[in-house]
Amino acid sequence: GFLEVETPILTKSTPEGARDYLVPSRVHSGEFYALPQSPQLFKQLLMVGGFDRYFQIAKCFRDEDLRADRQPEFTQIDVEMSFCDQEDVMLIAEKLLVAMFGACGVEIKPPFNRIAYRDAMEWYGSDKPDLRYDLKMVDVIDIFERCDNEIFTNIAKQPHKNRIKALKVPGADLVFSKREMKTFEDFVRQFGAQGLGYFQMKEDGLKGPLIKFFTDADIALLVERLGLEVGDVVFFGAGDKKTVWDYMGRLRIFIAEHEKMNLVDKDAYEFVWVVDFPMFEVEEGRVKALHHPFTQPKDTDKDDVEEIDSIAYDIVLNGTELGGGSIRIHKEEMQEEIFKLLGIGEEEAREKFGFLLDALKFGAPPHGGFAIGFDRLMMLLSKKSSIRDVIAFPKTQKASCILTKAPSEVDAMQLRDLHIKIR
Ligand code: AMO
Repeated sequence: GFLEVETPILTKSTPEGARDYLVPSRVHSGEFYALPQSPQLFKQLLMVGGFDRYFQIAKCFRDEDLRADRQPEFTQIDVEMSFCDQEDVMLIAEKLLVAMFGACGVEIKPPFNRIAYRDAMEWYGSDKPDLRYDLKMVDVIDIFERCDNEIFTNIAKQPHKNRIKALKVPGADLVFSKREMKTFEDFVRQFGAQGLGYFQMKEDGLKGPLIKFFTDADIALLVERLGLEVGDVVFFGAGDKKTVWDYMGRLRIFIAEHEKMNLVDKDAYEFVWVVDFPMFEVEEGRVKALHHPFTQPKDTDKDDVEEIDSIAYDIVLNGTELGGGSIRIHKEEMQEEIFKLLGIGEEEAREKFGFLLDALKFGAPPHGGFAIGFDRLMMLLSKKSSIRDVIAFPKTQKASCILTKAPSEVDAMQLRDLHIKIR
């Protein structure tokens, strides 16, 4: 069985990537507790301490931009175990989900499908693909490389950096007017698209303003690669890969949910494990951890840090990230190495995570775990579109409580006790 252990709420900053909520200390002037973004480090310390498996219903706090599936305080079901590998952890997570859904009268059937992170991005433009419908992006950069339009041939010259992707929408030509096709272009422009090309499959072949740039042989190849039939529309996105993934992925959802297409089966629960996440992500020259800095890398002998994979996995349900986890680093040297790659200096690592590094010195067992967002789970199970519908006394979009009016000003006395002056 799994033992339940509670972990502190008044604690030290944990790096899940959001801003911390801070609590000033009265006793220690100028010092602050952080509310936990997750119990991540305590989970690991419990494993080092010899609790070979445990679970916890954990309150977590993150000061981040709120969306329909995010609240500043939320609840996770956390699980951690030692001497396990990725398969053990995924099996437990699947069993837990089967039991929880079963308790709500919904039968789900593991094992869930798996998709590698890189495939998810290339095919669906998202690391949380909604697989209740098909719509898969196809690479056509090689065909566009040969076309007669410089915009495309220039983009195609850098296949490492750029993408040209095609999204076939079966039957779209039969239901969408020209004006509606224009609204799709307006939609993707919000997300950085320069434009949105499209071809229509008519009785007498492929049509569209861009057709003139292609040879007959390449048009035939497009029709074949995409399996086009009369009535289909193909949309094209071209440019920087991250931008193309993002707007084409959003277009995929936008079209699937469009009332004229209605591709989403509202009764379906489509689970998928996203696996083989890259360990790092480089943004504006800075190396960041994609999951968190305690995730075990798969292989470190790569020249490019972005090529290093980690033993991390997310469970996605109907296009929403329901949970995630990883196998953790259990060797001090490896943890120090990763901090170094992330630009966290020795002193900073000591100051922030000294207790973890010390614990790893004592001979930590290999360990790993996961966390499922409990409120998100309830939102999806009850078919609500906002997490606020399943939380008692939720916060607004601006993180305030309508009922109690929190956050609010406090007495001058209270501030003085806390050694705080408002500027
Ligand atoms: P992660 O950051 O992916 O992983 O969080 C796990 C799950 O918690 C839920 N969640 C949220 N729900 C509502 N509002 C939010 N602001 C919010 N943020 C996250 C999501 C998410 O999938 N320590 C790791 C887990 C681990 O490795 O064991 C962690 O916290 O459903």
